[in-house]
Amino acid sequence: MRVLLTGGAGYIASHIAIELIAAGHDVIVADDLSNSSPLAVERVRRIAGAPISFTELDVRDEAALTALFEKESPEAVIHLAGLKAVGESVAQPLRYYDVNINTTLTLLRVMAAHDVSTIVFSSSATVYGTPTALPLTEESQVGVGLTNPYGWTKSMIEQILRDAAAADPGLNVVLLRYFNPIGAHPSGLIGEDPKDIPNNLMPYITQVAVGRRDHLSIFGNDYDTPDGTGVRDYIHVVDLAAGHVAALDHAPSGVSTYNLGTGQGVSVLDLVRAFEAATGVSIPYEIVERRPGDIAACYASADKAERELGWHAAKTLEDACADSWRWQSMNPQGYAA
Ligand code: UFG
Repeated sequence: MRVLLTGGAGYIASHIAIELIAAGHDVIVADDLSNSSPLAVERVRRIAGAPISFTELDVRDEAALTALFEKESPEAVIHLAGLKAVGESVAQPLRYYDVNINTTLTLLRVMAAHDVSTIVFSSSATVYGTPTALPLTEESQVGVGLTNPYGWTKSMIEQILRDAAAADPGLNVVLLRYFNPIGAHPSGLIGEDPKDIPNNLMPYITQVAVGRRDHLSIFGNDYDTPDGTGVRDYIHVVDLAAGHVAALDHAPSGVSTYNLGTGQGVSVLDLVRAFEAATGVSIPYEIVERRPGDIAACYASADKAERELGWHAAKTLEDACADSWRWQSMNPQGYAA
């Protein structure tokens, strides 16, 4: 199948491209490079040993997207284009609603005009808000009490896609709710490359390890968790990528929703220790105040994806730590090096 990846030069999409090509699909990348590098696409071509068409465009630009559909004739779309920094979304809500919602609306219009009827959407565990019970299943409550505009955009886009499918029974929608992606391709050639100070835990740890930052700040150790630090479900990005291929190949027609996680809760301190054990590099840290908006614990039940897609996360936390470190140590300044 010819698969268009919007946001295709980004951290998660670049890993999806490799898994798609390995499974025999053709990949078309569209990205505005606002938070990614064209070098990522070049590296994916190198790893996959396959040509990949790349177009620099803003998905909200309907004329440019239409031209791309006419030139490349995609048969399915995996939609990852969007802004994703939680704190920034609080400071710039209108920008987040504009980019995330309007990319989706434009994409759906252009897909309809070209009879493309399959969309896989990059959603997030953030749609569950503050969990009332763990693990989170696809039936858990969504869209209540979310704490930031980024999370609301994910929740709203899920609703937009459900409504679009209700109006057009030919439209196939797969909503993939990501938990916390970490790790990198084992080649060390592609990985996560935050433009500013990392918001997320693993890139912060690897930047401390490589000497770009002095120490890690752990946001609170008084949560109701086994060691008091926040618990999350860290999934290797290569496993996450494979989940998209499984979704394209096996999801039923109509609308379907899957958690992509490991089912394991891991604390901040667990992750720091796992990183130190896997790499031999020590991570100095300091406990500081809780970060506003953070929840104590969040982890998936990934049983539905196993049952219906035949997919489960196969890599270990140690694999993820070793692979994150290989990427960061081979590319201390990310793609800028
Ligand atoms: N943390 C620290 N120090 C840091 C960074 C994070 O202690 O420097 C802690 C956080 O407090 C939290 C855990 O590490 O307990 C994970 O934090 P991340 O920022 O890496 O991830 P979040 O779970 O907060 O957020 C992620 C994604 C969001 C998504 C959210 C919900 O970044 O896009 O999961 O699924 F919305």
